[in-house]
Amino acid sequence: MQKIEETQFPENFLWGGAVAANQCEGAYLEDGKKLSTADMVMGGTKDKPRMFSPQIVEDAYYPSHQAIDFYHRYKEDIAMFGEMGFKVFRLSINWTRIFPNGDDQEPNEKGLAFYDNVFDECRKYGIEPLVTLSHYEIPWNLVTKYKGFHSKKTIDLFVRYATTCFERYKNKVKYWLTFNEINVAAIAEGALNGLGLVQKDDLERVEPIPLHDLIDDPQERFEALHNQFVASALTVKAGHEINPDFMIGCMINRITWYPHTPNPKDVLACQKHDRLFNQFAGDVMVRGEYPTYMYSYFKENGIDPSFITEEDKKILSEGKVDMYTFSYYLTNCVSADPMVEKVGGNITGGARNPYLRLSDWGWHIDPEGLRYTLNLIADRYPNIPIMVVENGYGGIDQVEENGAIHDNYRINYLRDHIREMRNAIEDGVPLIGYTEWGPIDIVSVGTGEMYKRYGFIYVDRHDDGTGDYTRSKKDSFEWYKKVIATNGADLA
Ligand code: BG6
Repeated sequence: MQKIEETQFPENFLWGGAVAANQCEGAYLEDGKKLSTADMVMGGTKDKPRMFSPQIVEDAYYPSHQAIDFYHRYKEDIAMFGEMGFKVFRLSINWTRIFPNGDDQEPNEKGLAFYDNVFDECRKYGIEPLVTLSHYEIPWNLVTKYKGFHSKKTIDLFVRYATTCFERYKNKVKYWLTFNEINVAAIAEGALNGLGLVQKDDLERVEPIPLHDLIDDPQERFEALHNQFVASALTVKAGHEINPDFMIGCMINRITWYPHTPNPKDVLACQKHDRLFNQFAGDVMVRGEYPTYMYSYFKENGIDPSFITEEDKKILSEGKVDMYTFSYYLTNCVSADPMVEKVGGNITGGARNPYLRLSDWGWHIDPEGLRYTLNLIADRYPNIPIMVVENGYGGIDQVEENGAIHDNYRINYLRDHIREMRNAIEDGVPLIGYTEWGPIDIVSVGTGEMYKRYGFIYVDRHDDGTGDYTRSKKDSFEWYKKVIATNGADLA
């Protein structure tokens, strides 16, 4: 019997899915495209870290180079999203398709035409594109030449790239995000992909380096992150001038942190970490100014904040985002005790929460945490629309002899999270959309694997390079189709 949920999602709720260019497109040197930071990172596993190589190593496996070949198969994939009834499809533009070196004189017409085709295909099925301008990658040339966003020059180059996209697609795309999970650069683990900040000594290394071993200079990291904030604010301002109807958002990797115990030491440590990781970037981008607690963080950590100039403050205040979007997979705990049991997480781990189950990759599963998080965001930033632009279950799928894939674990995870979104809407949260992460299997960012799968659509592609890229439906495909068709009323 069909189970109808009591509260309805708002009319026109944007149901859909989300991917990133370097995790799905492949064709990494096709039609004029050149290398980006994501193309320099090899495959790993849960237990074997991904390695970064400053030069491409012949015969080594770089997952982004082929990925799932979306570049050539987008029509088939978007048709399947259309069949599921998607209202929105979040994807990213690969900067190196538009400006292959980042600092080229003219944009690459073939790259621009590719996304024209992708957006037209979306429109054919009534799917609204939601476009991230930089999803964990920047042109490699900007890393070697300018040290990525550490240089002010990269601000201008990003704004030029963004405005080129805005002008070209202004009648095809309304929803935009500037930088994916911009906040992760507040901690060392997030330094490479988005910021392109690689130190000279690392660039000169001959052997590949585990990503987490890249040299971190916190002063330079915060300077580069600041430049990204400025680039984002200038982009928002320029976007509104090009098309006042644009909705341009920030995108935050939201790991809500709980104190591991009621010990005030844990509570304070948790507050500090939460501010640094979750609140800082959102505060800058939604409120248009640095929060005072960051000046205290800079002081405590020996960081000179003089990079925050009066001119930049004005830019930040003039480029506030129109919506708050975020990824949500898990919550973690913070403890003041360094000996506490640890678990993994998305980009960064935390202390083990004994009340929560773990996924196949050791991430806490916490649907109620999503309701809590949505309420925290709505309380902090009243009157701004909110969208969950990533949420999903990375698991191990078993293909049966008849080709079926019974992914009940994924359905259960999504059902529980969607139900909590509905509860949050009931609480008054202005949630306007939900894009499930990886509606089609794609390369994992954390481990570089295809083995870790998120999709409703299975892709026959494996980490040993085998597979013919055939697409097939998992059980979750029909389930999500029904969820969308009933606007979230039927989650059974
Ligand atoms: C998010 C990223 O942090 O997490 C995605 O924006 C990523 O690009 C997703 O794929 C899931 O992480 P993973 O490591 O399972 O791919």
